[in-house]
Amino acid sequence: MTAYTDPYEKFAKSYDLFGDITDIDQNEEAFYRQLFSQHKVVTVLDCACGTGKHCYLFTKMGYKVQASDISEPMLSQARENLQKLGMDISLKRCDFRELEQHFDDTFDAVVCLSTSLPHLHKDKELIRALTSMRGVLRDGGIVIIDQGTTHSSIKPDRRFELIVNNKDVTRMFVKDVEENMQTIHIIDIYHNDLANCLEHYSVVYRILLDDDYRRLLKSAGYKNIHIFGGHDMSVYDPDTSQRLIAVGEA
Ligand SMILES: C[S@@+](CC[C@H](N)C(=O)[O-])C[C@H]1O[C@@H](n2cnc3c(N)ncnc32)[C@H](O)[C@@H]1O
Repeated sequence: MTAYTDPYEKFAKSYDLFGDITDIDQNEEAFYRQLFSQHKVVTVLDCACGTGKHCYLFTKMGYKVQASDISEPMLSQARENLQKLGMDISLKRCDFRELEQHFDDTFDAVVCLSTSLPHLHKDKELIRALTSMRGVLRDGGIVIIDQGTTHSSIKPDRRFELIVNNKDVTRMFVKDVEENMQTIHIIDIYHNDLANCLEHYSVVYRILLDDDYRRLLKSAGYKNIHIFGGHDMSVYDPDTSQRLIAVGEA
């Protein structure tokens, strides 16, 4: 496996403070139902499964799901989460730049969701990952790349964002944006243990926007590229969209 320093090593245990993996927005479920039905999807590979949120969602929706992630702590959290829900899903430790070495099957859809691809910073590596995803897709299958990073999320007035705030914990993002890179500092403040009340994690992302995805997906051999601006299936609009979801056909 390509050398990798895991930003989730400590973060995995508390990652689900973002929300329980079963907490799925109805619009998100409807989005995938429509897209998967349009493309006759039955089998799905989630190649950056994290703690298992979309493994849960797609299995619950009736799709045949396999999953992988590069981070053993995230996979371990996913195993624990899915076991509790009685879901038996094959989870492999695997870099999404090397999927063909780990999967003999081909899939109708490969998904890489919630700002996972931008962990890679160089065009060469991004194209390598997208090509590897295409390598495990059937002809006409689709890749879906999803992220919260948009033209508006990186504006200076969004530098500080409150993500979670309840009686137990406050989670906020502080974003340092420089040219085409951003570091997201995740700050957790626990309210019930004042001696150990502060945790801090950082993730460094390449900023990829709609034109980047058009270019990268095209270079990796995809056609019929479409960029959505949210789970409402709107077309991506740099002025207003709060999500970016890139879809390409193998
Ligand atoms: C922000 S989390 C998103 C997790 C999940 N997709 C979700 O929706 O909650 C990003 C995930 O990408 C994974 N990841 C980063 N680089 C990767 C790589 N090269 N290959 C496979 N997984 C990777 C991380 O380990 C982490 O689990």
